[in-house]
Amino acid sequence: MHAHDFNVRPDGRIRFLIRSTEDPLAQDGPNVIAGLSRLPKQISSVYVYDKRGTELFEQQCGTPEYYLRRVESQLLTSFACEIVETCGLLPLVELGAGTAEKTRLLLLEYAKRGSRCDYFPIDVDSATLIESAIKLTSDFPLLFVHCLGTTYEKGLAALPPSRQSRLFLFLGSSLGNMERPEIDRLLSRLFDCGAQGDYLLVGADLDKDASIIDRAYNDSVGYGPRSTLNILDHLNRRYGGNFVQANFRYQSRYDSLTRRNEVRIESLRNHTVTLSSLSFIVSLGAAELIDAEVMWKFDPQELVSILDRAGFSLVRQWIDLVYRYGLFLFRRQ
Ligand SMILES: C[S@@+](CC[C@H](N)C(=O)[O-])C[C@H]1O[C@@H](n2cnc3c(N)ncnc32)[C@H](O)[C@@H]1O
Repeated sequence: MHAHDFNVRPDGRIRFLIRSTEDPLAQDGPNVIAGLSRLPKQISSVYVYDKRGTELFEQQCGTPEYYLRRVESQLLTSFACEIVETCGLLPLVELGAGTAEKTRLLLLEYAKRGSRCDYFPIDVDSATLIESAIKLTSDFPLLFVHCLGTTYEKGLAALPPSRQSRLFLFLGSSLGNMERPEIDRLLSRLFDCGAQGDYLLVGADLDKDASIIDRAYNDSVGYGPRSTLNILDHLNRRYGGNFVQANFRYQSRYDSLTRRNEVRIESLRNHTVTLSSLSFIVSLGAAELIDAEVMWKFDPQELVSILDRAGFSLVRQWIDLVYRYGLFLFRRQ
């Protein structure tokens, strides 16, 4: 989708705090080279999400096996009213907003109360961000969207200072897609850019029977694998690469001891791949695995103590006891 910064809505209810044409991964080539030069090789999961990757992820979310989206939506349907009553009608900042399908459930509460809402979605997939801003402002006449089409950290740094408290949203268990040091670093950025009294709502998947997790990431249609293998097409497009999907296979495994689901891309044969715009050639062996995504399945107490160490105290939690998925509301100390 092509959108220019100033003409997406004539009434000005969509604006860009970072230009819609700015590429958040423009300087990321060296990280790609570093990841593919390590052992084991690694590609950042941020490359799952171009426009096509988000479409595939959304399709995966619609499968019966992928309980995360369904259960988080049910929790928000039941408790959005309590969340808004606890926090008040604050401006919303969302990390990794994507299509913002679940955010709508909170926006409905603002609409029911006839309240204006200022919404600051941050997402590296700018195309999806703009598309969802257009749909949301059509459906919610008192909504003002301030788009930050960039990475979490750059988005938080570009937020305008606010005299009012804000409610930060981090849904979809996206916090669990980062390694622990990255989680700590992001929470510290979040703490620094906020103010005392801000709220943070985290949606987090919890430790559970491994078979439920295995099914979610190995859905019968194969959207999970396609969404992960789309990373290769994304790298090809961005860096002039010649990855061929047929030379690779998707692999997802949950380890209940570490409470970590690992998604890897397995090379099926010995071959080399060139990323021409990075002047980089990578050799891959048969059965070699590339680390692509991690999904932590939290112990609730551990999650609460990670947040507590970062300066966020638990206010309330809502946990689905069947699927073991939770919404955790924190307040910045
Ligand atoms: C797991 S999806 C969750 C989407 C949505 N919040 C939900 O709950 O369904 C993660 C979202 O975060 C975005 N994302 C991933 N890594 C990011 C990063 N480092 N900075 C900004 N956005 C990121 C992706 O583009 C994607 O829309």
